[in-house]
Amino acid sequence: MADSQTLRVNGTEAVVNSPSDTPLLYVLADELQLLGPRFGCGLAQCGSCSVLVDGVEVRSCITPVSAVSGKNITTLEGLPALYAEAKGLAQVPELTPLQQAMIDEQAIQCGYCYNGMLIKASELLAANSAPTEIEIRTAMNGHLCRCGTYPKIIAAIQKAASVMGANA
Ligand code: FES
Ligand code: FES
Repeated sequence: MADSQTLRVNGTEAVVNSPSDTPLLYVLADELQLLGPRFGCGLAQCGSCSVLVDGVEVRSCITPVSAVSGKNITTLEGLPALYAEAKGLAQVPELTPLQQAMIDEQAIQCGYCYNGMLIKASELLAANSAPTEIEIRTAMNGHLCRCGTYPKIIAAIQKAASVMGANA
C-alpha cells in the first residue's frame, strides 16, 4: 500500500507516495526523477547510489524511504547548492571545486561511480578541509570504481581541497 510522506530533497519539500519500505533510491529516481544516484549492486557494497542525509553519506539502495522522512537529503544534483550554503556564497556555482577537479584530473571514465565518489568526497571535505592521502583513501574505501581510476580520483580530491583552501 502506498504511503504519502514528505521528503526534503535538495532544499525542496516533495510529497512521495511509494510504500514506506521502498528503497530511497527508487523513490528519488522514479518519483522525483533525480538520476544522480545510480543503481549498482543494490547491496550497499559499491556506493554508486549514495546520497547525503543530514550531511552523512547513506546508501540509498538499502535505505527505506520512511527512514529519511523529515531529514535533509542531498543528491548529486544538490551538491553545488550545498557547497554554496556551506561557504556562504551569494550564487550557486554550476560545479563545486570537487566536480571541477574531477574534470580537470580526468578522474572519470565510464562515470558509473561518479555519483558516489562525489557524495563521499563532499562529505569528507566538509569535515576535513585538508585530508591527507591516507585519510582520503580511508574515507573512499567503500566506493568501487570498475574502471580503476582511483589514483586520479584521489588526485582530484587533493586538488579540490587545495582550491577550497585557497578560496577560504
Ligand atoms: S547500489 Fe547501493 S551500494 Fe551499490
Ligand atoms: S569511472 Fe567507471 S566505474 Fe568509476
